[in-house]
Amino acid sequence: MNNLRHMMRPLDFSVEELDQLFDTAADIERNMSSYAHKCDGNILATCFYEPSTRTRLSFETAMLRLGGQIIGFADASSSSVSKGESVADTIRVISSFADICAMRHPKEGAPMVAAANSIIPVINAGDGGHHHPTQTLTDLLTIRSLHGSLGGFTIGLCGDLKFGRTVHSLINALVRYKDIHFIFISPNELRVPDYITDLLKENNITYEEVIKLEDVMPRLDLLYMTRVQKERFFNEEDYIRLRDFYILNEEKMQLAKKDMHILHPLPRVNEIAVEVDNDPRAAYFKQVQYGLYVRMALILTLLDKTDAHMNHGLLRKWT
Ligand code: CP
Repeated sequence: MNNLRHMMRPLDFSVEELDQLFDTAADIERNMSSYAHKCDGNILATCFYEPSTRTRLSFETAMLRLGGQIIGFADASSSSVSKGESVADTIRVISSFADICAMRHPKEGAPMVAAANSIIPVINAGDGGHHHPTQTLTDLLTIRSLHGSLGGFTIGLCGDLKFGRTVHSLINALVRYKDIHFIFISPNELRVPDYITDLLKENNITYEEVIKLEDVMPRLDLLYMTRVQKERFFNEEDYIRLRDFYILNEEKMQLAKKDMHILHPLPRVNEIAVEVDNDPRAAYFKQVQYGLYVRMALILTLLDKTDAHMNHGLLRKWT
């Protein structure tokens, strides 16, 4: 088996490695059935200390579609965490049962602690407001598949740009590609953090910050909508004031390019009206499908199963 490798941050893989990962994901999309036994005998553990629909279920579906099996918990209160067990001890135990683990935790850095104490690959499935690398892989694969390349476009990011970990991770990842112009669309209270704009300045990448979506809509090749996240607000009053600041509807869509693509990490609340779902430019449910392909590709990569010699059910052992 290869050296132990984790997926903690969007930049853990080089651009070349990401190209390979996306090529594998694209092949999975075309030839799903030929991957049906790649992970026979392997077990994925999903350890979710925070709610999820897409990420947990797409990881579990990914392993099942690869022929493997799954264990795990969807709620920390149903595990020994509720008795005070640490993340480090939990992953030591999980390492004795499973071949690979996907972990979501409300505390920033918790999956990194798990990785440092693990003998199996650990995937960060979202840590607080920090990173959500597999959502970023999903977003990159969606852009590459629908736009045709990971560069040469103007992307608008709209909504909660302050707390949105998917936005921060995506910007971090896109910095490595060429000829991208960013337009940040948010109320003042939810502006993108300074460390992100500093990163763009350091890399000579152009960006604008605006409040009104309508003002920039005609210039966008991609629009990445986000939800105002109730769970990240300290103050209910602020949340209520800002939650419906942006509502993308048919009227606003009339201002957009005919070939613009709308992405959203989901869950959606009110920020995209249901009437937009039937617009051919709405790509957010397709995006979920790309999330499955890329998580299948990631599991294969971290388990070193992308080439001909397959490691069937090799359980790592503590020494
Ligand atoms: N996009 C995303 O992370 O969705 P879930 O919170 O449902 O996993």
